[in-house]
Amino acid sequence: MQNFIFDNKTRIIFGKDYEQVVGQESVVFGKKLLLHYGGGSIKNSGLYDTVVNSLQEHGIEIYELGGVKPNPRVSLVREGVSLCKEHNIDFILAVGGGSVIDSAKAIAAGATYDGDVWDFFTGKSEVSTSLPIGVVLTIPAAGSESSAGTVITNEDGLYKRATGHLSLRPQFAILNPVLSYTLPAYQTACGITDMMAHILERYFTTEKNVELTDRLCEATLRTIISNAHTVLNEPTNYNARAEIMWSGTIAHNDLLNTGRIGDWASHDIEHEISGIYDIAHGAGLAIIFPAWMKYVYKHDINRFAQFANRVWDVEIDLNDLEKTALAGIKKMEQFFSSIGMPITLTEVEIGDEHFAEMAKKATERGTLGNFIKLQESDVYQIYQLAR
Ligand code: NZQ
Ligand code: ZN
Repeated sequence: MQNFIFDNKTRIIFGKDYEQVVGQESVVFGKKLLLHYGGGSIKNSGLYDTVVNSLQEHGIEIYELGGVKPNPRVSLVREGVSLCKEHNIDFILAVGGGSVIDSAKAIAAGATYDGDVWDFFTGKSEVSTSLPIGVVLTIPAAGSESSAGTVITNEDGLYKRATGHLSLRPQFAILNPVLSYTLPAYQTACGITDMMAHILERYFTTEKNVELTDRLCEATLRTIISNAHTVLNEPTNYNARAEIMWSGTIAHNDLLNTGRIGDWASHDIEHEISGIYDIAHGAGLAIIFPAWMKYVYKHDINRFAQFANRVWDVEIDLNDLEKTALAGIKKMEQFFSSIGMPITLTEVEIGDEHFAEMAKKATERGTLGNFIKLQESDVYQIYQLAR
């Protein structure tokens, strides 16, 4: 097991009606707040009014910036940075999903920086401080509510890039499973896939002697799998929504990463797809993760056989571990299909026209992944396997 420091400062406020305490939680960080949100969903559900009332009750002055799109764009981030600088904003409140939270994080970093915020995503500069942010989560998926990362798309060149810093971890995250009742089935399934991918990125490690975190990963995956169809069939089932919401946070708050080094190649390979084609990140992962697995499983068949057995109940064939490993990958694909996810690029009408460009862009800052290091030609072949 690797040495580690586990430090996740995000205060999790979990359960029914907790969005009503957002004013009380926010006022601790100052009286001038940027309220950041996406399209119409929080207005349609009434959450916007609840949040605004709570903030006003605590004497907070609200500046608003809505309109965050899925795969959030740097142009809106720049607008947010200008607003924060112009009005000396103290605190940013993100109400929404990963896209809104990531946009809020990028604004928070840009607001304390003299250069262009995109510098943080090209490696030209590193985040060292940021404004504090808080979250009211509406979709369990990205795990951004307690992660230190943010992923932003630059419309100029369609680059989707990530950056991170400990200061970007939200101060608090309000998680009320009831707020996820209004999610369309497709978004629910994309979220389920993304949180599973966050666990898989950590699970496929070359680190030995990580039994506890292996078992925690497997337990979280099994919890997600066993509640997935329930939330899709009964969108207002509180207990199932609660299991999924908490799993989404656990999947990405770095607990499951302790003592081990994750892979993350599939995320980088996927980001090229959602960057260019603007598909949902979770759907892209349902396509890329199985392809990555088929490309790398021979590197550690035992680990893939363990995954098949402990997560998907595939019986271990000691005479043919490869068969066991492949059966696990197959079961995972079948599961993604069963929740309405695409598992091939063809299903989302993506051809091979940008494979070479995507493989080049994905590896322009070096090899991808840690399970095995992938070069440009490997990434190209993974796109081929995903057809
Ligand atoms: O914009 P609104 O109207 O709010 O609609 C959203 C959006 O269209 C809708 N939605 C959200 N909550 C809803 C709802 N609709 C009805 N009822 C609700 N309760 O869902 C759509 C998708 O929202 P989005 O925020 O894009 O989803 P998600 O949370 O999956 O975030 C995806 C983004 O997060 C990034 C992804 O790359 C992608 O850009 N990621 C961020 C990570 C991080 N910062 O740690 C890690 C992840 O791996 C991921 O890369
Ligand atoms: Zn993800």
